[in-house]
Amino acid sequence: MIDLKAAQQLDQQDPLRSFRARFVHEENEIYLDGNSLGKLPKEVPDQMTENISTQWGKQLIRSWNQNWLALPKRLSKKYSQLLAADPDELIFGESTSVRLYQILHALLSSHQSPPHLISDNLNFPTDLYVLEGLQKQFPDTAVTTINYGQEIEADLNKLLRAIEQQPGIVCLSLVTFKSAYFYPMKKINQWAAKHNSIVVWDLSHAVGAVPIDLEASETKIALGCTYKYMNGGPGSPAFLYVKKELHPKLDNPIQGWFGHESPFDFDPKYKASPGLERFNNGTPPILSMQAVEAGIDLVLQAGIENLRAKSIQQSEFLLGAIKEVLAPLGCSVHSPLDSKTRGSHIAISHSHAWQICQALLAGDQKTPRIIPDFRPPNFIRIGITPLYTRFEDLWLLVNRIQTIVNSKIYLQFDETKQDVT
Ligand SMILES: Cc1ncc(COP(=O)(O)O)c(C=O)c1O
Repeated sequence: MIDLKAAQQLDQQDPLRSFRARFVHEENEIYLDGNSLGKLPKEVPDQMTENISTQWGKQLIRSWNQNWLALPKRLSKKYSQLLAADPDELIFGESTSVRLYQILHALLSSHQSPPHLISDNLNFPTDLYVLEGLQKQFPDTAVTTINYGQEIEADLNKLLRAIEQQPGIVCLSLVTFKSAYFYPMKKINQWAAKHNSIVVWDLSHAVGAVPIDLEASETKIALGCTYKYMNGGPGSPAFLYVKKELHPKLDNPIQGWFGHESPFDFDPKYKASPGLERFNNGTPPILSMQAVEAGIDLVLQAGIENLRAKSIQQSEFLLGAIKEVLAPLGCSVHSPLDSKTRGSHIAISHSHAWQICQALLAGDQKTPRIIPDFRPPNFIRIGITPLYTRFEDLWLLVNRIQTIVNSKIYLQFDETKQDVT
């Protein structure tokens, strides 16, 4: 039987507990949505104020040489430690959607793989939209979205068979957005390579949550956002990883001046940078690049293996509590039960999931507000961010859902959904 005391004891024993104090927290509020938008690292506001008032306010254009031009490289270097990659194989900027479009466009134009885009029903909608949009630009391209008939996990046999039968460019999210299913990256990369295919991995829900070794997993292309487990802030720059051997073979569909081999020569003729910088477009978003650095440093300091160990421990704790307390009340787990195939969030399904979410957000005099998120049709997603999530938070969540369902508190809340859920 789990209780609050046991949860607090686990928090006291947590070797990563000091990292929680490095983030901004609201009183009387439990945040379990770090898989959607990570929390604000405490040092960022002062750092940004200083950067803005000094570099922008005083140094102005001189800051390009003094600070700003070196920034993207610095981020790539730090990220390369996290992903076991060469820093020259990583760039920052744009959104995940834009990066995905650019790289898939480049792959289709290069004719290295057959013109077939393959994804599955577990992938995030933007990825599927980009694939669908590209088909309009490349009418000879086929698009296959494999449907597993459920949203918990991939049917690997079905996926591998689809690649074997009609090779092409495979686009998958390493950790899926609804259920947190975690694909065997190396196995799929190797299978794809054997069958004249290439995989583009969307790491948005994976980076900072699970250890990723791009080199050892034989990954050729990956990308993802930095505003979830990396705590980079809303709309923070995405990253793009492309293996070196592919750089000269891939052309950026947007020939912007920052992709030129020497942008400050102001050459009227475009000449692509020989490196991955060829995928840069316009002026980089310096302020948001500066804001993401503290989040990267925190993940590196904590160590991704330690974060993963805590994430698994907390996930098992939560799953145990759901089974014991919430399953008899009509809740079921909509995530893989084996930690080896699960990222760092857990989806709970209930027929009144939306109203339960609203009741959690409202709190009451005795209970803190609890912020999870909702994904249709009926999932409450619980993000576990080991940098700041406490066992106590997870216990309070389960306890509160129990009260909300038992006392039918959720019936006080409207079924109408808001824009951001
Ligand atoms: C897996 C995945 N890919 C892509 C996106 C969207 O990325 P962006 O808004 O940076 O284009 C999200 C957003 O949550 C996501 O979860």
